[in-house]
Amino acid sequence: MRFGLAALVMLLLVSGCGGDAPEPDGAQAVQPPIGFERAAAAGPDEVRLIAHGARLARVLGCQGCHGADLTGHIWEDDPDFAVLYTSNLTRVLPGYSDAALERAIRLGVRADGSPLWAMPSEIFTHLAAEDMTALTAYLRTLPPAGEDHPRIAIGPAGRAAIERGELRPTPEYVAENRALGPLALDGGHDQARYMTRATCAECHSIDLTGEVATPDNDSPPPDLIVVGAYTRGQFHHLLRTGEPVGERELELMAEVSRGRFAHFTDGEVDAIYDYLIARAGVER
Ligand code: HEC
Ligand code: HEC
Repeated sequence: MRFGLAALVMLLLVSGCGGDAPEPDGAQAVQPPIGFERAAAAGPDEVRLIAHGARLARVLGCQGCHGADLTGHIWEDDPDFAVLYTSNLTRVLPGYSDAALERAIRLGVRADGSPLWAMPSEIFTHLAAEDMTALTAYLRTLPPAGEDHPRIAIGPAGRAAIERGELRPTPEYVAENRALGPLALDGGHDQARYMTRATCAECHSIDLTGEVATPDNDSPPPDLIVVGAYTRGQFHHLLRTGEPVGERELELMAEVSRGRFAHFTDGEVDAIYDYLIARAGVER
């Protein structure tokens, strides 16, 4: 079923017939967001705040890129193109004020003002203040460990890609996507739009319409209208285990489901499901 839908989406994209799809409403996309569900854990406020931040770090993929212990590792290792590490957050954090850390996460700039590369701040731009506070509180609990990593080294092919506009620093993606987001619908889907913009949008594109297959990538993230083919139970199962409907195996999606989305609450998965089903039903 998925292939039928994906083919349809590709046809629309290729033929340009998707023209009358409702544009994401920029004004609504930048409304004060709602936030992820607060942890129901017992204990003092500070303990609950840190527990919420720890869960968010997982759901938002900090560990997925910066490593299980957030000490960073090699990310791109092609001297001709670029050699890039994900930062060792445990060691750089003491050099960041809370405000500077917030700028790094939301805008993609280091404490010294230099731009970050390949850090997906464009999806973190609109994180709710409460979620940012919790994330920061959790990150501050990490004791410095491991070693520092060098900054990006861009090779000749990387410089050519920059000139062609194909390789760009994070702040450019932040500026470009600031007013964009998943389709706004009437009714109570704002929390789900907020959550999908900060998670699914990293790969399925900022408006969740997915990416087109290329010779390099024959299994791109599809338009999330594919969720129309899932029952609620099957969708929970996908996000908990990475197992889709049908006798198939997913790749990257299986990995991020197990590592990240298994940390969504049941209520969050339900809200995302309801939103994506409503979105799939919108005529376009
Ligand atoms: C898709 C991968 C990816 C994800 C997800 C990601 N990061 Fe990053 N992040 C990077 C990379 C790569 C760098 C290094 C960029 C550079 O050196 O130019 C980086 C750099 C940073 C920096 C700058 C630190 C320094 O070197 O001064 C901070 C702070 C940061 N990330 C925090 C986070 C937090 C918090 C999260 C989760 C909310 C997160 N990142 C999620 C890839 C990622
Ligand atoms: C790190 C990248 C990444 C993120 C984040 C991500 N996905 Fe995916 N997703 C993919 C890729 C890539 C595929 C295509 C299948 C594959 O290669 O695993 C996919 C496929 C899917 C599919 C199709 C499964 C099928 O039946 O074939 C669904 C549904 C889906 N994703 C839902 C989501 C939802 C919902 C979110 C946010 C909560 C999300 N994805 C976040 C990368 C991602």
